Amino acid sequence: MNSKKIGIIGGGNMGVALAKGILQTKWASPENIMIAEPLKEKIESLKALGKGVKASHSNIEAATWADIVILAVKPQIMTHVLDEIKPVVKGDKLVLSVAAGITTSSIEKRLGGEVPVVRAMPNIAAVVRESATVICRGKFATEKDLATARHIFESVGVVVDLDEESLMDAVTGLSGTGPMYVFQILEGLSDAGVKVGLSRDMANTLAVQTLIGSSKLIQQTKEHPAKLKDLVTSPGGTAISALHSLEKNGLKALLIDAVEVAAKRSSELGSQKKD
Ligand SMILES: NC(=O)c1ccc[n+]([C@@H]2O[C@H](COP(=O)([O-])OP(=O)(O)OC[C@H]3O[C@@H](n4cnc5c(N)ncnc54)[C@H](OP(=O)(O)O)[C@@H]3O)[C@@H](O)[C@H]2O)c1
Repeated sequence: MNSKKIGIIGGGNMGVALAKGILQTKWASPENIMIAEPLKEKIESLKALGKGVKASHSNIEAATWADIVILAVKPQIMTHVLDEIKPVVKGDKLVLSVAAGITTSSIEKRLGGEVPVVRAMPNIAAVVRESATVICRGKFATEKDLATARHIFESVGVVVDLDEESLMDAVTGLSGTGPMYVFQILEGLSDAGVKVGLSRDMANTLAVQTLIGSSKLIQQTKEHPAKLKDLVTSPGGTAISALHSLEKNGLKALLIDAVEVAAKRSSELGSQKKD
């Protein structure tokens, strides 16, 4: 078990998912986790994540106490939080940020000094430890810092390293925002099942399992999706008829557009933050 103290700023979806993942993998002991959260009502439930877990109203307290500071607040309040913790965050602490659009250089600049920063883009499946997370390091973070970040994010799923930070907005558009596309597709499939006569329960169960099964098939066979599509489209069969309808209605173009606008929005969120 690692002996570093972890201070999580922001006890929302991502902050809590990370705390739970770290506890479940025993990467850190509960005594070495503190979560800072402004909402009074949340403090007790955060402490209840594990016997010994600390929770505070004070970001400064958590950042002072911690060796590793995880920034899990909304991008829009990042500047405010960085200004707040700046006096207590120096080069001897590692800063991890999950905020969409916020670059390592803007965090380094705001904190001043040579602070090691690793930027990560997880997704909401971190809650069930199935996130696809991409990490990249800022100019003061070492390979060791990156390895530490990798361990932390592996506690909530799969981690992929990225050297070129400019691609983080693309990652945000694809996998960071990705669960939303899947939820929309699943809702559509569920509605479709009901339209053709299935109960809502049955339609949901079948749609979800079909998605899980198809994803596992791609993951395990490592085949290109197009090859598996060929495998299931028999001449004159149901799949090729359905495929024709999807193509006519531009499903793939819709997905490409959605990822593109989400990536653009991620970049806007970064530039909206005042340096
Ligand atoms: N959710 C996702 O799918 C996802 C995916 C990838 C990355 N991210 C990134 O993760 C970050 C957090 O997102 P989230 O979904 O976890 O949001 P969230 O559930 O709203 O959590 C943010 C938390 O920060 C707290 N907070 C607000 N002001 C604060 C302050 N001044 N100091 C400390 N904590 C403060 C909020 O408390 P209150 O509730 O009291 O306001 C809330 O508990 C964002 O930057 C987002 O870009 C999220």
